[in-house]
Amino acid sequence: MPGAAGDAVKGACMKTLSTQVAIIGGGPAGLMLSHILDRHKIANVVLERRSKAYVLSRIRAGLLEPGSVKMLRDYDLAERMDAFGKAKNGTGIVWQNKPDHFIDSMKWTGQQMMAWGQTAITEDLYAARERDGAQLINEAENVVLHDVAGDAPWVTFKQGEADYRLDCNIIAGCDGYHGPSRRSIPDNILKTFELVYPFGWLGIMAEVPPLPDFTYAYHERGFALAAQRSAMLSRYYVQCDASDRVEDWSDDRFWEELLARFPSDMAANITTGPSIEKSIAPLRSFVAEPMRYGNLFLAGDAAHIVPPTGAKGLNLAFGDIHYLSRALDWHFNRKDDRYLERFSEMALRRVWSAVNVSWRLTKLLHIFPDEDPFDDKIRQNDYDQLVTSDATASALATAYVGAPFED
Ligand code: APR
Ligand code: PHB
Repeated sequence: MPGAAGDAVKGACMKTLSTQVAIIGGGPAGLMLSHILDRHKIANVVLERRSKAYVLSRIRAGLLEPGSVKMLRDYDLAERMDAFGKAKNGTGIVWQNKPDHFIDSMKWTGQQMMAWGQTAITEDLYAARERDGAQLINEAENVVLHDVAGDAPWVTFKQGEADYRLDCNIIAGCDGYHGPSRRSIPDNILKTFELVYPFGWLGIMAEVPPLPDFTYAYHERGFALAAQRSAMLSRYYVQCDASDRVEDWSDDRFWEELLARFPSDMAANITTGPSIEKSIAPLRSFVAEPMRYGNLFLAGDAAHIVPPTGAKGLNLAFGDIHYLSRALDWHFNRKDDRYLERFSEMALRRVWSAVNVSWRLTKLLHIFPDEDPFDDKIRQNDYDQLVTSDATASALATAYVGAPFED
């Protein structure tokens, strides 16, 4: 039994632990919150259902907004990112039979993005939490939240053969879309908003040199994306049918389809090679409101999901943690609840901005199976405006770098 459980009351049927903040979920949101709370001397325990190896094996997007980059630097988590990540001035768009466009964050906002993968960030977060002696409990089963609306919430869970009760002041629900936290909010309080897209993204990782820029491709065969992790690690995606299975896609089929969706001069520069990972992600937009119920606060995928177009998922999770960690610092250390009271409202403003831009980009860049010629005409016109109007280009670049954090 690691960390906190070492302090458990011995001999009791149910071992009891206590802390200030119980964090459900040890993905990037939960680990980042734990790390920042530690800096503010706020005791916390992270309960994670999976093993560390499993959490670190998940591959997600790799494009950071300036706000996320700053957070990593502010909390001493940026050493590897600054050594090996690649600063980017924006992201390219190539469009069949139309001029290229560059979503130029540098030109329109003076800010850069950073190419740096979520897997590496999670590794660094784990390393920092272990180095600092975090109470991080992996393979916590049957996590149940109790009395979340009251002043003394508590959490029960099982690890191995032992049952635990964790008393706390605050619960942070950082347990992703499928976790129990959001479901602890009564149906008559929680409002959800959802859009499921009628296609998926098939992504592969390959140990080959990437194209220089992140580039979205619009093509009548469907969307494609060239992304990157390092000088010798490429990440590529193609839009696929919602019903496709990974087994339907050999490496050869993937590369053939990818190359067909990029203009021939770019396709000629794409280095192909065996995939080291291949997976299909469904696309959805989802928001749960409010993000607070009593002493339960939701953050990250527990409260919202965005389609990967725009790579907003991790950036949004970090935005939530920025607001939540500040609110908890003021609550515990200054006995001032001004930010706790405004957490949900502030976080949701940023969430909806990201939901909005990722929805707009998804509609712009994908062919929808049920669309009619009118929809296609509107999409083509949207792109024409982007290419010809500085105001449209500036608006997209501004949304793409992410909304600033509110004071
Ligand atoms: N008990 C404990 N932990 C749980 C439970 C549970 N019942 N259910 C889920 N979890 C854990 C998951 O195993 C996972 O490690 O919660 C964690 C949630 O992590 P993520 O899903 O990575 O979500 P989040 O930390 O909010 O990060 C958001 O990561 O998922 C991507 O696209 C997403 O990039 C975004 C970012
Ligand atoms: C990625 O790096 O995997 C990535 C980048 C940009 C996106 C989506 C995914 O819009």
